[in-house]
Amino acid sequence: MQMITITGKQALHGRIRPAAAKNSTLPLLAATLLCRGPCRLQEVPALADVTTSLALLQAVGADVRRCGADLCTRPVQTLCGEIPECLAGAMRSSVFYLAPLLCRTGYVRLPLPGGCRLGPRPVDIHLAGLAAMGAEVELEGIAVTLRRKGPLHGVDFTLRLPSVGATLTLLMAACCARGRTVLRGAAQEPEIGDMVHFLQACGARIRGCGTPVLTVDGGCPLAGTAHRPLPDRIAAATYAAALAAAGGEIEICGCDPAVYGAFLRFLAETGVAVTRAGDCVRLARDPAAPLRGGARLTADAWPAFATDTAPLAAAVLLTAAGESEIYDRLFANRFACAAGFAALGAGCTAQGRRLHIDGGAALHGAAVTAPDLRGGAALLIAALAAEGQTTLRDPGHIRRGYADLPGELHSLGADCTAARGAA
Ligand code: EPU
Repeated sequence: MQMITITGKQALHGRIRPAAAKNSTLPLLAATLLCRGPCRLQEVPALADVTTSLALLQAVGADVRRCGADLCTRPVQTLCGEIPECLAGAMRSSVFYLAPLLCRTGYVRLPLPGGCRLGPRPVDIHLAGLAAMGAEVELEGIAVTLRRKGPLHGVDFTLRLPSVGATLTLLMAACCARGRTVLRGAAQEPEIGDMVHFLQACGARIRGCGTPVLTVDGGCPLAGTAHRPLPDRIAAATYAAALAAAGGEIEICGCDPAVYGAFLRFLAETGVAVTRAGDCVRLARDPAAPLRGGARLTADAWPAFATDTAPLAAAVLLTAAGESEIYDRLFANRFACAAGFAALGAGCTAQGRRLHIDGGAALHGAAVTAPDLRGGAALLIAALAAEGQTTLRDPGHIRRGYADLPGELHSLGADCTAARGAA
């Protein structure tokens, strides 16, 4: 259990660069299993989910190690398709091992993937796509087993909704499958483009990047490559939200502002001064001037407002003048952080996918608990706007996605410290 202590009302100043994105790095690590040459993923932060991924890779027999800031893999002859239950259950991204292990070993058994409890998170699209490519799918209560007799084959497959995870799974599988695969209704998030660029650098033949139709001519062996995963657009939005809550002036550099453009437009609407210059964004807010509320946000698939930033936006809107509403189309339980917001003195009600925010709250310090990764970050941000001291108990969610969020905010001037507490 990590205990984070925050004393609010300290303006932020300085410059920050987001590290490599969790949601790029984790699937890329799984994709290295497909490569017949060594791979190097550059400047990967020490996230808890990265540590879990390294343990999972080692458990299935892969050769992976840290080399300085990078992660290095070397191909091995034999892999095992059994994913240990404790590793599968520790993160959602264990699902990314279905396709590579099926392709490499002909067999994979995945106990139910874990991750944030954001509502039901089925894997039916992953499985339907793999089945259409020739995989045999067996579901038991707590695990899914996939087998293939021969090689997977190309397919024309329409995803019933643009799932990020299923698009990544089917891209990896299509690279190994014989013949052409066309994926229709694919997700278009920047992390999909990052996977496509990685696979192309390894020799994969993929067209349609950035569109909902991806065409893969599979079956050619993949070499290894060196690749720097995309900067984390959700971390960038987190720093931007922190500035909006605390006031001050910061620069976020090294992350294309377009990849979190919807969040920056939202902040500009609330009254934060947002100036873009190349791959930097300067954000400024006078802490004495109240933010404007009245926001109506709908979180949805790219390029709409990102679901991971919905709790961050909520944290900003708690004190803004006027009622706001946020609706999340992707996850049924995105706003578990509402109880923590209320403990900090906010007027807000979560009803299913909808969060209603009264606005105009005078927040005060309290003892709160991180319910999930982004909800935990959102509570930290709300605490930056609160009078007095907040203690945020985090059973481990925040470090799954941010190597050291309290330390980063501290480096910008926040009064924020982290310590390990009793479990
Ligand atoms: N869905 C299905 N069936 C499937 C797959 C998805 O019904 O087979 C549904 C989900 O239940 C959900 C919706 O489709 O309602 C969207 O899910 P998607 O598959 O797009 O999301 P994901 O791959 O599970 C990734 C990120 C999430 C991020 C979402 C949306 C990773 C490890 N996770 O999840 O990130 O919110 O895409 O952009 O890449 C986080 O970082 O905290 C996080 C939750």
